[in-house]
Amino acid sequence: MADTIVIFGASGDLTSRKLVPALFRLFVKGRWPEGSRIVGVSRSEFKHEEWRDSLRTMTEKFGGEHFTAEAWDKFAENIFYQAGDIKNQDDFKALAEFLKTVESDASAGRVYYLSTMPQLYEEAIQQLGKAGLADDTNGYRRVIIEKPFGTDLATAQALNCSIHSVFREDQIYRIDHYLGKETVQNIFALRFANSIFEPIWNRNYVDHVQITVAEEVVIGRRAGYYDTSGILRDMFQNHLLQLMMITAMEPPARYDAALVRDEKVKVLHSVRKMLGSDFANNTMRGQYEGYLREEGVPKNSQTETFAVLKLYCDNWRWKGVPFFLRSGKGMSCRTTQIVVQFKNVPHILFGEKTRTPVGNRLVIQVQPAEGIQLHFETKVPDSEMKTRTSTMDFSFQQAGGAELPDAYQRLLLDAMNGDASLFARSDEVELAWGIIDPIIAAWKSPAAPSLFPYPTGLWGPSEATPWMAEQHREWFDVC
Ligand code: BG6
Repeated sequence: MADTIVIFGASGDLTSRKLVPALFRLFVKGRWPEGSRIVGVSRSEFKHEEWRDSLRTMTEKFGGEHFTAEAWDKFAENIFYQAGDIKNQDDFKALAEFLKTVESDASAGRVYYLSTMPQLYEEAIQQLGKAGLADDTNGYRRVIIEKPFGTDLATAQALNCSIHSVFREDQIYRIDHYLGKETVQNIFALRFANSIFEPIWNRNYVDHVQITVAEEVVIGRRAGYYDTSGILRDMFQNHLLQLMMITAMEPPARYDAALVRDEKVKVLHSVRKMLGSDFANNTMRGQYEGYLREEGVPKNSQTETFAVLKLYCDNWRWKGVPFFLRSGKGMSCRTTQIVVQFKNVPHILFGEKTRTPVGNRLVIQVQPAEGIQLHFETKVPDSEMKTRTSTMDFSFQQAGGAELPDAYQRLLLDAMNGDASLFARSDEVELAWGIIDPIIAAWKSPAAPSLFPYPTGLWGPSEATPWMAEQHREWFDVC
């Protein structure tokens, strides 16, 4: 069945760098439903040919080794452009007419991708409704919404409410591109396709979990967005909490969108609310040196570019096990990793009695060195019973097989196939804001923890090390 992807925000960066190259790769792999088309919508006036040409250049650059002129020409036959302003109802009527002319089949399904400025999401949805474009009597109608989904709980609730007046929840696909990463999906396989980890994946054996998303990059030219957002909204409300949910969730009865998301949501319900001094004791924030000199950043900005949260899930599996969530810009390297640190042995029989064994740890490398390492203690050869930490190392790259696809490939295909397992549900997004909002509020209050400056190229503020020592733990700072 040939379907249509309508991209609002067609002239934007995301469309040319990520969305179209991902769709092209699906086409090359033979997974793009035959004859399906892309219709780009934005205010600029382009002829179809002009838009195709600009996409060709970017796809050649970002489409990987799959690019060939022949494949592109075939793919581009089904790329169209329709100028339109989200604020103009007539433009939506014109779009509805245009779609009829390019869709050969009256029952073609449609995915509307909102890749516009977030301030326009609500209006775009309402306009789609008014123009009859949400009516799914003849073919499916789905809408993909990029992050950020609201800027706090109240705005997310209002947005959900507005969208629900036009689309049913099963038509709504809220994107978190971390869920499209192959290594994040592999956490499901690691946990639920093996019986060796699950029995010890709980408070009886796990000492703590560290989830780190470190980025070497700084904010670049994104000050306008970033300074009003900060790292809690930009990374924690979505990506870090998603990683935590997948690490902490119970096995669903089946791998099915509703059941998977039910289990994830239960994790958020169990996150202990911070009260009083918790905000100062269980959170840290930092700002990289030079942030205030970035173009567009107010000279007195208190926006954080680094944060740590210590969260607890008060449920049977995790009660008492801290989850340390940490993310920063301007860090020493780009790495996303989940460290499950198991408890020490109850009694050290041999080795140096003063040395705490540091093995007993599973490291899930989400990116860029995608893989999993198990760190465990082994005997130092030709010694008395001395031990050292050794590693069993699985790397996706060395294991061979297909290259790891870009997150958008998976997510776009899932949306076309109607599989919402890897998209956030309305309650999930709202609960996540419910965790983040009080911290943002506390950080604005007089009792806010200090905003530690840190030089770029390290692991955030130096204060993070003694802070972790006070928790009787150590950061796993390995690139
Ligand atoms: C985005 C954030 O959602 O994720 C960016 O807005 C961040 O600030 C990016 O750089 C990180 O994504 P990835 O896939 O490069 O880890």
